Amino acid sequence: MDDKLVSIYIMDKQYQVPASLTIMRALEYAGYKLVRGAGCRGGFCGACATVYRITGNSELHVALACQTIVQEGMRLAQIVSFPANRSHYDFASLRADGATLLSIYPELELCKGCNTCTKACPQELEVMDYVAAALRGDIGLAADKSFDCIMCGLCTARCPGELTPYNIALLARRLYGAFIAPRSRHLAKRIEEIQEGQFDPALAELESLSLDELKKRYNEREIEK
Ligand code: FES
Repeated sequence: MDDKLVSIYIMDKQYQVPASLTIMRALEYAGYKLVRGAGCRGGFCGACATVYRITGNSELHVALACQTIVQEGMRLAQIVSFPANRSHYDFASLRADGATLLSIYPELELCKGCNTCTKACPQELEVMDYVAAALRGDIGLAADKSFDCIMCGLCTARCPGELTPYNIALLARRLYGAFIAPRSRHLAKRIEEIQEGQFDPALAELESLSLDELKKRYNEREIEK
């Protein structure tokens, strides 16, 4: 570990932490127990959205706490939950078109095209582009461009138009997956095999194993190259 220490501020209280730590590790080093705002610790779950400013500079930055190294003078606030609008709908009755997106998320039309959402995205997704695609009714493009979204909510926290890009994109991906994407024949075949009970003996055998045997089996499994 890098021995050099930097000063950071957590809820305005100053702490000295090793300069090599991520924000998440620094919070723990400072004595905080992360009950919320931490999940995978690998940049995949979006639970650790963070907003910060560097002392002496007014610019606000956003980051994932598990992926971002601390800096001298960081003033941190964790966004463990954000009150984003998430509409409820009867998914099975929906049509996969732009009118559906607009009726469920009418605020789509309020997009100012400022690109703040794209700048806020820690995944470097082109958020404004997928919002524009959603507004045009191009559900396939909106789904594709948002595919790597980890639902951290930072785009929404920063949007001056009060859109919820990540929830709009989630609906686009659901519509695309359910109604537009070509059916997977392999998946259909595998579901049929499961329903026929072809895997029941193997599952029963796994259920009968001890934890140690299961771990051994897992560690010795064949891994696809
Ligand atoms: S803890 Fe999952 S993305 Fe940071």
